[in-house]
Amino acid sequence: MITLTINGESKQLDVTEDTPLLWALRDVLGMTGTKFGCGIAQCGACTVQVDGQAVRSCMLPVGAIGEGSKITTIEGIGATDAGARIQKAWLDLEVVQCGYCQSGQIMSASALLAATPQPDDKDIDAAMAGNICRCGTYVRIREAIKKAAGVA
Ligand code: FES
Ligand code: FES
Repeated sequence: MITLTINGESKQLDVTEDTPLLWALRDVLGMTGTKFGCGIAQCGACTVQVDGQAVRSCMLPVGAIGEGSKITTIEGIGATDAGARIQKAWLDLEVVQCGYCQSGQIMSASALLAATPQPDDKDIDAAMAGNICRCGTYVRIREAIKKAAGVA
């Protein structure tokens, strides 16, 4: 049995330690907001936060997550200050196209904003480089991060 703290709630999961967090979230807990894209840490669709850091949940075994660590998913990010501001900016600027990549984009952008309240283009490039969008919403994503940060 593995115990994880997800969006402030303690969850007990009957999974093996090598189970990727993405599988635990989606298949065991039914939290389908976090998406499966590539499964090899290349697309960013599965991004969640562990202790505020954006991580690829498809390649993170649950056994590697410390019991005291706090996992935040797209279902809970709106309860954080940075997450709420990012989500509002996303809506205001209508960032989303098909939407498939956007959970991951929002999780990376929120982690960036929490760590770097006034990010410049270089900070945004570095933080968002691992999040691929097939619809090409990159320009709106950049604008929305700046709007959320109050630098646009
Ligand atoms: S599904 Fe995890 S990075 Fe693509
Ligand atoms: S909005 Fe369609 S893949 Fe990003």
